[in-house]
Amino acid sequence: MKRMILIASAALLTLPSLGCTSEEAQNIATLEGDATAGKPLYDSMCAGCHGADGKGGSYDVDLVAELHHSDEEIIDVILSGDGDMPAYSDQLSDQEIADVVAHVRVTLGGQ
Ligand code: HEC
Repeated sequence: MKRMILIASAALLTLPSLGCTSEEAQNIATLEGDATAGKPLYDSMCAGCHGADGKGGSYDVDLVAELHHSDEEIIDVILSGDGDMPAYSDQLSDQEIADVVAHVRVTLGGQ
C-alpha cells in the first residue's frame, strides 16, 4: 500500500514538467506549416511590430534571435500574447498559426 502511494505521488510530481506548453500549442506544432502561406499573414499582422525581416520593427523584439525556443513555446506566445504582444487565438486558425511560424522559422530564420 505504501508503495502504491509512492508511485502515485511520483507520477503527480512528473506531470507539470510535461505541461510547460499548452495542449493547443502542442497540437498546432504537429501541423505542417506552409511558409509561403504564412508570409502575407505575417506581413499584415506581425511585421509592424517585429519588422518584415523579423529583426524588429516598432518594437525591438528580434524574432530571429528567439528561434532557439521550441515551436510550442512560440505558438503559445502567438495564442495568448505576452506583455504588449496581442493574443491571436481568435484571429488566426490553427493552420494559419502554423503557417506564420513556418514563415518566421524557415523564410526569416533560414532554419
Ligand atoms: C503590437 C505589437 C506586436 C504585434 C502586432 C505582434 N507582436 Fe509579437 N511581440 C511583441 C512584443 C512587445 C513582444 C515581447 C513580449 C514580452 O516579452 O514582453 C513580442 C513577442 C513575440 C514572440 C516571443 C519572442 C520572445 O521574446 O521569446 C513571438 C514568437 C512573437 N512575438 C511573434 C509574433 C507574431 C507571429 C505576430 C503576428 C501574428 C506578432 N508577434 C505580432 C509585439 C507584437
